[in-house]
Amino acid sequence: MTKRLWIETVGCQMNVLDSELVVAALRRQGWDMARGPAEADAVLYNTCSVRQHAEDKVYSALGRIRQEKQRKPDLVVGVLGCMAQKDQELIRRRAPWVDLIVGPGQLHQVPMLVADVLGGGGPRLEVSLERKGAARDVIARSFESYDPDRDPAMRPTPFQAFVRTQTGCDKFCAFCVVPHVRGPEQARAPATIVAEARKLVAEGCREITLIGQTVNSYRSRDGGRTTRLSDLLVMLDAIDGLDRIKFVTNYPRDMTDDLIAAVRDLPKVCRYLHVPAQHGSDAVLTRMKRGYTIGDYLEMLGRIRSALPDAAVTSDFIVGYCGETDAEFGLTLDLVRSAGFKNSFIFKYSPRPGTRAHERLADDVPEAVKKERNRLLLEAQAEVSVAGNRRFVGTRQRVLVEGLSARDEKRDVAAGPDEVVQLSGRTMCDQIVVFDAPLRLVGRLVDVDVRQAGPWSLAGAVADGLAEAVPLGSLAFSVESAPEVYQIAPRRGR
Ligand code: SAH
Ligand code: F3S
Repeated sequence: MTKRLWIETVGCQMNVLDSELVVAALRRQGWDMARGPAEADAVLYNTCSVRQHAEDKVYSALGRIRQEKQRKPDLVVGVLGCMAQKDQELIRRRAPWVDLIVGPGQLHQVPMLVADVLGGGGPRLEVSLERKGAARDVIARSFESYDPDRDPAMRPTPFQAFVRTQTGCDKFCAFCVVPHVRGPEQARAPATIVAEARKLVAEGCREITLIGQTVNSYRSRDGGRTTRLSDLLVMLDAIDGLDRIKFVTNYPRDMTDDLIAAVRDLPKVCRYLHVPAQHGSDAVLTRMKRGYTIGDYLEMLGRIRSALPDAAVTSDFIVGYCGETDAEFGLTLDLVRSAGFKNSFIFKYSPRPGTRAHERLADDVPEAVKKERNRLLLEAQAEVSVAGNRRFVGTRQRVLVEGLSARDEKRDVAAGPDEVVQLSGRTMCDQIVVFDAPLRLVGRLVDVDVRQAGPWSLAGAVADGLAEAVPLGSLAFSVESAPEVYQIAPRRGR
């Protein structure tokens, strides 16, 4: 009988991609998707370690699955990804019913490991080397890049895909666990990336988002030639049938002029740059070991603004970092009020064992203060965002229609292709736009006249005539997202 799989994904786009690849590999072995954990033969959690909150979610999910495992002892329970690499055996001590613990560098082994467990081979732990105590290339080899065939049915939408440019990170920001759990930075060869993009486009994909922890640090050396991210964008822009190219996440110091010029000159590259500043104070940036000052950041922002006046720039910020004073936090507020970010993702500092900040600095800002600073910064960003979005009112924007709006997704609309629903899409500057239109427009480019602006989205009406007409791809699956949790599951009612 066909075996059924349930997978839950927590964390960043890298994890969404990894889950797609794991599912694709298992489907090639004859597995099918379950509709929920209760009817699954294997339940996998693809995990995140970047903040404690993300880990807590997985441990509570493991608590819930325990009953299922008692009912069905043959159920395979697996913990994949960053938490597996970070906690290793600790996971089995806390949840002895877990069968598989597989780090991000061993995901290619999942089909074989699941088969082993089903065959009675007992629990398995497969992780990479730690980042101390061995030569860099030996550690790097223990994190294998995992980029086999894709599975359009398991992507957020069939017409959008993530493509990895590099694995790992070498920046070692003091607060961050990523270099420890994702290993050394390793670039994929340009030809591999371009071939993957071509294949995706041939399958109907129209938008590609390149992903790397510091995507703009991308460097691939082959003999005497170095390929940078800007070179890669030139190659991808030439692919017929591809409409849009995005890339995340950028590291401020590597935002070089060739890259900014590529965004300006290449028609398919979205005018959207996510370049996390993390903090507004030089003293805190030093404690974070971010490697730049606010002066450097503003100089970079100036270069972006002068070459790309209409581009959307977004940032991440950490509030309540070790030793953060009111005055230091005030500098972050000042930066948010003055820099004109389209949006900022704001996080309360969460100490991560193994990082420099955890080893050397006290997590001394009380939780209540972190919460209050989080609220104040969100409020400041919301004001800036509304003001920025108002500039679009009265303009016509070309939108790639992604699916039902959050409102109609919540209402559980089961509409036919011609039924008018509230749809949601994004502009070339990554602005979310909602509008009423027939469901069949999903996956198409349409022109929308913007009528209203809120802090997080615009609202409008479809302009006369479609920007273009293409057949609608399969809409069978979607990622249902809540902050930090992507539940990859079949879409309801379609
Ligand atoms: N380069 C990565 C960064 C991964 S972490 C990327 O692809 O986005 C994402 C964001 O989480 C960081 O930019 C930072 O703002 C936040 N973050 C990282 N470690 C954190 C910690 N220990 N506590 C709170 N926030 C953290
Ligand atoms: Fe983390 Fe800094 Fe790398 S935030 S992912 S160590 S650039």
